[in-house]
Parts: sequence; structure tokens; C-alpha cells
Amino acid sequence: MMDDVACPVLSNITLQDSYHKIIFDAPHIAASAKPGQFVHVEVDDTTEHVLRRPFSICDADAETGHLTLIYKVVGEGTAKLAKKPAGETCRILGPLGTAYQYKDDVFPVIAAGGFGSVSTMFLAKKTPRPGIIFMGARSKHDVLLVEEYRKLGWQVEIATDDGSEGFHGLITTLLLNHTNDFPAETKIFGCGPAPMLYALIKTVAPLKFPCDVSMEQHMGCGVGACFACVIKVKDPTSPDGWRYSRSCKEGVVYPSTEVYCG
Ligand SMILES: Cc1cc2nc3c(=O)[nH]c(=O)nc-3n(C[C@H](O)[C@H](O)[C@H](O)COP(=O)(O)OP(=O)(O)OC[C@H]3O[C@@H](n4cnc5c(N)ncnc54)[C@H](O)[C@@H]3O)c2cc1C
Ligand code: FES
Repeated sequence: MMDDVACPVLSNITLQDSYHKIIFDAPHIAASAKPGQFVHVEVDDTTEHVLRRPFSICDADAETGHLTLIYKVVGEGTAKLAKKPAGETCRILGPLGTAYQYKDDVFPVIAAGGFGSVSTMFLAKKTPRPGIIFMGARSKHDVLLVEEYRKLGWQVEIATDDGSEGFHGLITTLLLNHTNDFPAETKIFGCGPAPMLYALIKTVAPLKFPCDVSMEQHMGCGVGACFACVIKVKDPTSPDGWRYSRSCKEGVVYPSTEVYCG
């Protein structure tokens, strides 16, 4: 069930560089949130930032009612959020969107680009057993939550564009180098920038492992009313084989086979 509630900030700290972690008291959202879903946060209650900002649910604890988000300061909205002290509130709409799908015997393999590892952290906590996460980042300064994944028993493999940590190259190349380690019950989960996800979809297609991808687009309303967030999905009933899908409502998580890659 979706709620729009004023949620008190419990803490809001700097994690590393421009990455911050904010914890809200949001029992209604925490009770029903599923891995892959997101929330839409009103960063400011003035007319300056009328649009809310979407953030993946990094963790949601139904017992404590705590909702954790990790965000990078990239513009005005996230800069405002970084200044929110404990005790202030933000209206939060959520949980929104679709969730990652998996069976009880799944061997999870995550491909997370940039701050994608934030979105998949909740998944890593909920899957029946730990798996392998491939993290792709520009440099070692953008690699997030490595120790948190390791504490959950996950094998962490890192690829950086500049070679400052782990494999020097693309996350898709690193993943392909490890496919012999994947058992038959493997499912792949992808989250990250669109170009990385389109590359991942093409990379996994011949592997025959199922794959879900989290297509995080720029958003307006977050609830299916404005069409700001559309992506192309396959549609065999349409003359050209595809249609536009509002990712905030039909996604943001899609089976990789449904996403139109051209
Ligand atoms: C479903 C979803 C989940 C997200 N989860 C997270 C998360 O867990 N942590 C996190 O840090 N960010 C996340 N984002 C991105 C986050 O919403 C944006 O960074 C934020 O809205 C930027 O707001 P701003 O006002 O600070 O920046 P703006 O001034 O709006 O934009 C600053 C810069 O960021 C870029 N930007 C804005 N939105 C996006 C986007 N959706 N994708 C890529 N670039 C964008 C703009 O093009 C611009 O270059 C998510 C986005 C979506 C759609
Ligand atoms: S953001 Fe408005 S329809 Fe998706």
C-alpha cells in the first residue's frame, strides 16, 4: 500500500565524499516496502522545489519503522536534503514501483553501477542466501557499501573505469569473466545508469539466466500521471514492436527481456 506521510528525520550523516545516509521514522512505508521499490521525497516544503526527488529504498525495517536512503549530492534538491537536521520532517510518498522478483532457491548475482549498490542493498538483505555482487564505478571513491555486502556474506567484485580499485574496465566484462561460477539457479539483478543497464541486458541475453533491471529515469510525479519517466518496452502487439512504459508505475524494475534496446 502507498502512503504520503510527513516523516521525521532520525539522522542524516555524510558517508563518504558527496554520499549521505538519511534515516527516517517511516513505519507505514517500512512495513510494506520490497527490494527494488523507491520513495518520492519532498526535499523542501517551499515552492522552490515543487517536484519531489526519487530515491531507492536502501533498507526498511518493519520492526523499528526505520527507512534508510543513501544519496549523492548532485544538485539543489539533494543539497537541500543534505542540510535536513534530525527532528525535521519530509513528506515521503511510497513505497512506489515494482520489486525485484526471485524464487526461494535463487542464487543472486547483482550488477550495480554507480550508486546502484544502494538500491540492491535491501535485496541483498532479503534474498534467501548471499551471492556475488559486481560493482562498477568511475573510481574507488564511488564504490559504496563494500563492507556491508561482505558482512552479509556476499562475494564482492569491483570494476573501476580508472583502475583505481579492482578490475580496470567495464562491469559487464568482469561479470562475463565470472559466469562459470554461476550455478543453474542464478538470477541476475541490475541497477545503475541507463547505458550500463542496456549493455548488461545485451550481455546477459545469450547467458539464459533470468535478469531483472531497475530502470531509474528522470521523474516528475512518480505516480504515473506525467509521462516524464517513460522507457521503451517490447510490445509484440504494436506495429513496430515496442511501446512507451511509465517506469514509475510499471517499473522501475523490469524483466530484462521486456526492455527495448534498439
Ligand atoms: C527510481 C530512482 C531511484 C533513485 N535512487 C537514488 C538513490 O538511491 N540515491 C541517489 O543518490 N540517487 C538516486 N536517484 C537519483 C536521484 O533521484 C537524483 O540524483 C535526484 O533527484 C537529483 O536531484 P537534485 O535536485 O539534487 O538534482 P537536479 O538539479 O535535479 O539534477 C542534477 C543532476 O543530476 C542528474 N539527475 C537527476 N535525476 C537523475 C536520475 N534519475 N538519473 C540520473 N541522473 C539524474 C541531472 O541530469 C543533473 O545532471 C534515483 C532516481 C530514480 C528515478
Ligand atoms: S514520473 Fe510521472 S508518469 Fe512517471
